[in-house]
Amino acid sequence: MCGIVGYVGHREAIPFLLTGLRRLEYRGYDSAGLATLNGKGLEVRKAAGKIAALESRLGDRRPEGRLGIAHTRWATHGRPSDDNAHPHTDCGARLAVVHNGIIENHRPLRDALLAQGHRFRSQTDSEVIAHLVESHAARGLPAAVRVAAGELRGAFAIACIAEADPAMLVAARSGGSPLVIGIGEGELLLASDIPALLGSAREVLVLEDGEMAVLKACEASVTTLRGEPVRRRPMSIPWDSEAAEKNGYPHFMLKEIFEQPEAVRNTLRERVSPDGGPVSIPELGMDDAELAGLRRVAMVACGTSWHAALVGKYLVEAFARLPVDVEIASEFRYREPVLDSGLLTVAITQSGETADTLGALREARQRGARTLAICNVVGSSAARDAGGVLYTRAGLEIGVASTKAFTAQLAAVELLALRLGQARGTLDPALGAAVARALWESADAMQTQLRRCEELREVAGLFAESRDLLYLGRGLHYPLALEGALKLKEISYIHAEGYAAGEMKHGPLALIDDRMPVVAIALRGPHYEKMAANIEEVKAREGIVIALAAGDDAEARARADVLIPVPDVPYWAQPLVAALPLQMLAYHLGVLRGCHVDQPRNLAKSVTVE
Ligand code: M6R
Repeated sequence: MCGIVGYVGHREAIPFLLTGLRRLEYRGYDSAGLATLNGKGLEVRKAAGKIAALESRLGDRRPEGRLGIAHTRWATHGRPSDDNAHPHTDCGARLAVVHNGIIENHRPLRDALLAQGHRFRSQTDSEVIAHLVESHAARGLPAAVRVAAGELRGAFAIACIAEADPAMLVAARSGGSPLVIGIGEGELLLASDIPALLGSAREVLVLEDGEMAVLKACEASVTTLRGEPVRRRPMSIPWDSEAAEKNGYPHFMLKEIFEQPEAVRNTLRERVSPDGGPVSIPELGMDDAELAGLRRVAMVACGTSWHAALVGKYLVEAFARLPVDVEIASEFRYREPVLDSGLLTVAITQSGETADTLGALREARQRGARTLAICNVVGSSAARDAGGVLYTRAGLEIGVASTKAFTAQLAAVELLALRLGQARGTLDPALGAAVARALWESADAMQTQLRRCEELREVAGLFAESRDLLYLGRGLHYPLALEGALKLKEISYIHAEGYAAGEMKHGPLALIDDRMPVVAIALRGPHYEKMAANIEEVKAREGIVIALAAGDDAEARARADVLIPVPDVPYWAQPLVAALPLQMLAYHLGVLRGCHVDQPRNLAKSVTVE
């Protein structure tokens, strides 16, 4: 949610700022802007729209300066416009601020600043920060930012530069929004997220909640917002700059769909062997006795990660015989969940920065529950906050629609369920070994599925004019139905709903007519016959059935209007394979309908505000 970048060093700032903004565009794309400092003073440029709009506004006359900040916005307060774009400046346009987050007390602050004679130019909550820093400017920039930060309520990551202190960039963070400092050669870089730094830095310092940093070309000093010094070792960046490129694919989403077999293999590697040995996950931070002592599990997540959690519920209950509640993180944290040390709270989050998931995780931890993060970003807030962390190793995911992170999460919840089942003695070792082998097999089956990508484009062509779609599944396929529908909505803007197929008769069947395509996940397994009956019920009401079924399933082929063949793997591993055709269908429909699939309207990849 909004991307911040900053530069101080020996080079011109603009090339890094623009590259960094492009790399962070998945965080928001409503407007963009930048500010630099040079011998002539502060220069600010901004434009509503995507970063391309800012670049064309800059043209050949790019501001000079070896110190600068930049921002790409996901609008919260104030519509996307030039005025509401960041950076925001003080009354005299001598200092500039970029902000990610929400300032909850912006109204009283604004009123007080207006009463003091400050002049506002935007409708944003963020502009108050520039005027607050201005009101304390006599103390010097670091102290002015520290005092201003103390007056703000809500979540913020900010970066500020000022003519009066022309050799430094001051950054601060509180209440969520991430910031990392990249360490380059004779230069320091600031960013909301590591992708902005790829190719420019090999190491980062993570700024933690409640900390600030003063960056000069060769020196970063980190303190708490109360002024206490902080010593922190840099950590290495796990990705190379290739990871942030499309590498010949038309979209990041398609590239990431094709990276899934590798993402799953990487997540399984060293944790379970292809010949079906026991699962080993020392990173859980809990031994057999502790795992055996658990009484309940709560999985908290948002969006696609919540669907992975639902799959996890089915698996943990089956293998480890532990009751599992799956919670939408934004609901969990604001009710009165019953939390104790017999509960393991598992936060599932690709980014590790989703505000609601972090809030739920912290709440659980503070109230005595054990915590685990299933997370894709090394060093992210969730990874640092949780008692244990099981990393998915999907690599950098840039497309706003989660694909490879989802299937890597599925692999991770499979591993967790197997590990819990082993430790608690509830899992038949023969079943455990079979599931482990099936997981590795599923990575090969995914490869086969990817070869059918073009066929999926043809299927998509049949439904490009549809207004609504339904997705049905039973058992492990039910969360997949939800995920298929979510993917379609966000990428193609076609309305879609996922249902447990058994629920159809309780209401949704009324929607079926000859204009309602129904995607039915009808793979072989324990629910096969019941699902076949549900498909017949749809057909009897003139519905159009697109069945995901085994290629050699003649009955399914006869029943369905369109059959999407899915390689046959054992039931427990099917979600990993069946996710792919659902993603590809959504992708092709999005492209056919002319949607911007990597940056769907109104969305951003990391939701760091509530
Ligand atoms: O980074 P997280 O996994 O915590 O993100 C959660 C959701 O915002 C995310 O899965 C979202 O639903 C995706 N856009 C779905 O494709």
